[in-house]
Amino acid sequence: MSKVTVINHPLIQHKLRILRDQNTGTKDFRALVNEIATLMAYEVSREMQLEDVEIQTPVAKTTVKQLTGKKVAIVPILRAGLGMVDGVVNLIPAAKIGHIGMYRDEQTLEPHEYFIKLPEDIQKREVIIVDPMLATGGSAKDAIEALKKRGAKAIKLMVLVSAPEGIKTIQETHPDVDIYTAALDEKLNENGYIVPGLGDAGDRLFGTK
Ligand code: PRP
Ligand code: URA
Repeated sequence: MSKVTVINHPLIQHKLRILRDQNTGTKDFRALVNEIATLMAYEVSREMQLEDVEIQTPVAKTTVKQLTGKKVAIVPILRAGLGMVDGVVNLIPAAKIGHIGMYRDEQTLEPHEYFIKLPEDIQKREVIIVDPMLATGGSAKDAIEALKKRGAKAIKLMVLVSAPEGIKTIQETHPDVDIYTAALDEKLNENGYIVPGLGDAGDRLFGTK
């Protein structure tokens, strides 16, 4: 079953508090989403593999660690996932970036895929899907399916705010995908919004409402 890690570092909780506030404007919202993504990426990359390598410091020869194993692909779910990309790239600058366009029908809450473009070697990469919101889980579920169909095997899902319903969807449909979230909220409301949540992440990021 998918492991769920709530990354509730004090800095993340403080930034999330500002993000949730309805008085926080687009400029600050955008900056905070990126800052939280950077802090979360630190934890999401904790299990990256290392190998020994011998180097010469100005003083002596020594054996130190360097990253090995799979290279990384960051895959934002458009639109709102775009707001987290720079934050992750800050820590993993060599990562390649794929994109999956997905929108949720406001009436049925069903996700619809409208765009996908991935690095050619996606099957060899460790994939980090990023999206601020995991609500019903429909968008993330379909995004993971689309990635698996194209050969991706090692996939992690990194979100800012999740609802129990979304966690359950991913655990039931993709038990091999671990979930990293900054907050686990109470529930979904009748319109499919996370409660208390932070509202419509895409609109708040891009100032479209
Ligand atoms: C939001 C959010 C997720 C999705 C979550 O995107 O960024 O992708 O909703 O909801 P779900 O878990 O119920 O599928 P939205 O569809 O509003 O598109 P946008 O990012 O383009 O605004
Ligand atoms: N998408 C959002 O942007 N916010 C929610 O609360 C749920 C889905």
